[in-house]
Amino acid sequence: MKFINQIEPYLTEHEVAAVSEYLRSGSWLTEYKKTEEFEANIAEFMGTKYVVVLTSGTVALYLALLALDIGAGDSVVVPDYTMIATPNTVRWAGAEVILADVERETLCLDLDKIQLRENTKALMYVSINGRSGDMARVAEFCRANNLHLIEDACQAFGSKWDGRKLGTIGEMGIFSFTPHKIITTGQGGAVVTDNLELYEKIKKLKDFHRTQPGVDIHTGIGYNFKFTDLQSVVGIEQLKIIEHRIERKKAIYNMYQDGLSGLDFVEFLPANLDQTVPWCTDLILKDVTQDDFVTFLKDKNVGSRRFYPAVHTQEPYAQSQDPFEAAADLAPRGVWLPSSIGLVDEDIQYVIDTIQYFG
Ligand SMILES: Cc1ncc(COP(=O)(O)O)c(C=O)c1O
Repeated sequence: MKFINQIEPYLTEHEVAAVSEYLRSGSWLTEYKKTEEFEANIAEFMGTKYVVVLTSGTVALYLALLALDIGAGDSVVVPDYTMIATPNTVRWAGAEVILADVERETLCLDLDKIQLRENTKALMYVSINGRSGDMARVAEFCRANNLHLIEDACQAFGSKWDGRKLGTIGEMGIFSFTPHKIITTGQGGAVVTDNLELYEKIKKLKDFHRTQPGVDIHTGIGYNFKFTDLQSVVGIEQLKIIEHRIERKKAIYNMYQDGLSGLDFVEFLPANLDQTVPWCTDLILKDVTQDDFVTFLKDKNVGSRRFYPAVHTQEPYAQSQDPFEAAADLAPRGVWLPSSIGLVDEDIQYVIDTIQYFG
């Protein structure tokens, strides 16, 4: 029997054809026209003025901080439940991480749990699995406290709050295109913004701080975080069927929810699928350990993945006191189920039947 992976990229013959055509075209593989096209297509989909595609979501977060001149002597608010890249980029920039607990219903930052300091310059709002809290309140909180709002929307491509795309509400929205995301280019990330100044700063930072592309005059210290056209060719094809990709993610979530909701050892977080595009179906275990559940499924040829541990439990962020109740409680009980866009209904039904048998 085949093994059902927790996630795998969804690629079609369209990507194969587009990549072969591109490779035969004599192009250089490096960032050029195809990347411009990919950026323009993302901008159109997001409804923002500017998009910069970068080598990863992590790099996109880092350059967003640098573009805002955040560094040594500053601090940035980060949720205690997120992928480790979020706090790491704050440390890369030389700033201090202020962790805050998350809401139980969304796993996103709980505004009531934030302890701001005098040197706090920004808030990184992470829309975990396409969910978000009240973004009007988040934006107002940042405005009232003079904080920059960076949206880490790496898990929220296509998701919305109140009809507005997540990633377009803060000054900058950050996305990731790794294979488990809604669209993938292998590695890759993007910053979307309506702010011309931030856009231009990020464009320079990614290209050695050149005054203009191709001109070897440098007005600052930059990096080489340029993308490749080879990857953009894949991204362009993935975006062409974005509506299908989104609908399939929602359908998978619905099928799991219908099939598993009655079980007493699993709990679903609220998800409004009109707004949320779950990158993976997530569930919270009750009276069952993550290890027992994941191992049981693996023995039955089903891949699953444990939630990230709460940030404060990771060595570089270890804190002696533990005030992060929601993250500390939910992170060790959360699991992602197989959620690839290419899964057929029979596969999902098999996973559901297997989990029912576990009970
Ligand atoms: C919330 C969040 N932030 C940042 C990242 C980092 O993105 P990347 O892996 O593209 O560097 C991820 C990746 O999964 C993520 O989920």
